[in-house]
Amino acid sequence: MDPAVLDFTASLPFDRRLGLHDLKGSLAHLSMLASRSIIGADDEALLRGGLEEIAEEITAGSFPYDLSFEDIHMNIEKRLIEKVGPDGGRLHTARSRNDQVALDMHLYLRDECKRIDEGLQHLQEVIVGMAEKHEDILMPGYTHLQRAQPVLLAHHMLAYFWMLERDRQRLAGVLERIDLMPLGAGALAGTSFDIDREQVAAYLGFSRLYENSIDAVSDRDYLVEFLAFAAIAVMHLSRLCEEIIIWSSVEFGFIELDDSYTSGSSMMPQKKNPDVAELIRGKTGRIYGSLIGLLTVLKGLPLAYNKDLQEDKEGLFDTVDTLKNLLPPLSGMLGTMVFCRERLAEAVDDDYLCATDMADYLVRRGCTFREAHQTVGQLIAFCRQKNNRLKELTPDQRACFHPALAENIEALLDPVKVVEARLSRGGTASAAVAEQLQKARAALSAHMTK
Ligand code: ARG
Repeated sequence: MDPAVLDFTASLPFDRRLGLHDLKGSLAHLSMLASRSIIGADDEALLRGGLEEIAEEITAGSFPYDLSFEDIHMNIEKRLIEKVGPDGGRLHTARSRNDQVALDMHLYLRDECKRIDEGLQHLQEVIVGMAEKHEDILMPGYTHLQRAQPVLLAHHMLAYFWMLERDRQRLAGVLERIDLMPLGAGALAGTSFDIDREQVAAYLGFSRLYENSIDAVSDRDYLVEFLAFAAIAVMHLSRLCEEIIIWSSVEFGFIELDDSYTSGSSMMPQKKNPDVAELIRGKTGRIYGSLIGLLTVLKGLPLAYNKDLQEDKEGLFDTVDTLKNLLPPLSGMLGTMVFCRERLAEAVDDDYLCATDMADYLVRRGCTFREAHQTVGQLIAFCRQKNNRLKELTPDQRACFHPALAENIEALLDPVKVVEARLSRGGTASAAVAEQLQKARAALSAHMTK
């Protein structure tokens, strides 16, 4: 091969990370070949010894990677032959790199999904911990980034718990689709050797086989699904980070990030920048890019294997690394940030936040909701014009808008009471949030027992 072509077509620089999974797949294949007497027992022992040595070399970092052997599969085969002699060439009987790489990717991603799931679990635990620790704090809930109604801080934070919960369900779905064993498909059509695919699957812990050899070597759906899962999860995390960034600004001042999770400015001595949150928000771009990249690679491909499929790797690996590596700093940042109770109390002490409750009150006094909405709207417009708070109006002034407003409406203007009234299931009253927390805890332990 022309050196420039070799450089261009080789996947070794990035697929070397599949080394240990490739060996695991080869050991399964080897023992199946021996148990079907496709290779002899002596050869099996010889090859097994060689593969085990190679695993040690890879683990120790002493494996001699050689770019002229294109990819990790050829590198390992070449090394095996170096170690055990020409009989090393028997390992590839009844196998092609096409089903081999498919198997490696299934094995690799299965492991990584489990690690990512652990990271998500930890993040969920941090969120639940924050909710429990701050159960008495109120904050304004927002719509359109305008103060809307008071809510419990715990309630707001738990919203992210449930997003992550669905992300983990999606990930579990990905794992179900990963649980398909491709080896035995050969290059595309199967093999004339009397192999036992069930045995290989059992050895490697797969519960199902690809039922079509052409599909087995062409399928990258599970990678697309993983990237879609990752894109959705990082979108959720980016929204959370966006809130952290807003809340940590002087304008909001709701939180203070721990110094160990912020950076200073090289020029402005007063700065404390929420770098971790910003960078996570920024990382969404490359993950979305990898999803669209792979979908685009796949869309026009005829069956079965095409070299284009090698392009499934870098974006996937990058996504795995990106997601895995952003979770610990995010958990750490959340676990160490401090809520500024005074600023939150000030923000909640805005009685316009209780406007909905005044409207609800009028509904209980016989108004239709539309009339009540309009009446309270007029009342607030009046207050705004006079620069008054609702609490500052006299009963007579209120009565001009609706006779029922002449009564003592103090409770309607107390954010704690407003929150505590929202007892509907999934609502923000502390009793409803306590129930929600219990469900969150139960969801966490259900994952643990799986
Ligand atoms: N490096 C290749 C990949 O990642 C392995 C499969 C090669 N198969 C082939 N027929 N060239 O896709």
